Amino acid sequence: MSDLFDFDVRKDQYAVMGNPITHSKSPRIHTLFAQQTGHRLEYTAIQVDVGGFSQAVGQFDAAGGKGLNVTVPFKQEAWQRVTERSERAERAGAVNTIKFDGNKLIGDNTDGVGLVNDLTTNNHIEIKGKRILLMGAGGAARGVLAPLLAQQPTLLVIANRTVDKAVELATAFADLGNIKGTGYDDLADQQFDIIINATAASLQGQLPNMPDTVIAADACCYDMMYGAEPTIFMQWAAEHGAAKVLDGLGMLVEQAAESFFIWRGVRPDSLMVIKALRAELSR
Ligand code: ATR
Repeated sequence: MSDLFDFDVRKDQYAVMGNPITHSKSPRIHTLFAQQTGHRLEYTAIQVDVGGFSQAVGQFDAAGGKGLNVTVPFKQEAWQRVTERSERAERAGAVNTIKFDGNKLIGDNTDGVGLVNDLTTNNHIEIKGKRILLMGAGGAARGVLAPLLAQQPTLLVIANRTVDKAVELATAFADLGNIKGTGYDDLADQQFDIIINATAASLQGQLPNMPDTVIAADACCYDMMYGAEPTIFMQWAAEHGAAKVLDGLGMLVEQAAESFFIWRGVRPDSLMVIKALRAELSR
């Protein structure tokens, strides 16, 4: 089995599994964390065929792997595959972090806490008492809902192109806070302090169809996507008076930092890594 992954047996083994996986920044991030903390580990990217995820996890486990990150399209399958789940993973319906602990496969989801830490710790944006607009009702939105609501915003509105999905999601999380699901047209008279784009629209160079008036004074607009250039949503936000415009690079590094903490018990300095990645992006 170990030839399959070509492990250096002297180092603890971690990996990210997904499809496609070639552009994943996780190996770079975790290698920087390991260097910074002096931990001896190896972190690789493994491309897994659709339909082959469960078997790949079993092989990685049998080969002595210590932990996995899971990305598109396997997060829901990972949720099924683990033997235990954290509360936040349970709620998210998706697992992005697996810790191998004897016979146990412990599943967690660090995406939401990654977003919250990037907003609150890195960018000093308080969520408590604020009005949040979360655009999108797919897996990315679902994954961050419980950690966002735990910060006690006064209101969280989920807006989605397919309105029913927003309403369903809001109903599923109604016990955690003041949350509503709606369509973009219904946002005409409302303003929000924190506006988060969790849709896949930026990938297609499109904007969700929200009215320009949703941005409150001092609002922060956050795109979960990132790239060398500001996304179309970030450009829209800057043009319509957002006080702060952020992309998802910080969230990416923060979700990784939380995974590293789950596996290794130490918190790396994520700001240093965000800075390094930002510099690499613009090269
Ligand atoms: P992910 O796991 O990234 O959330 P997903 O589950 O396929 O992916 O969800 C994609 C989300 O982006 C959905 O909320 C989708 O809206 P619909 O539910 O109406 O399909 C949203 N989305 C994708 N393209 C969009 C666009 N061009 N404008 C607005 N919303 C879009």
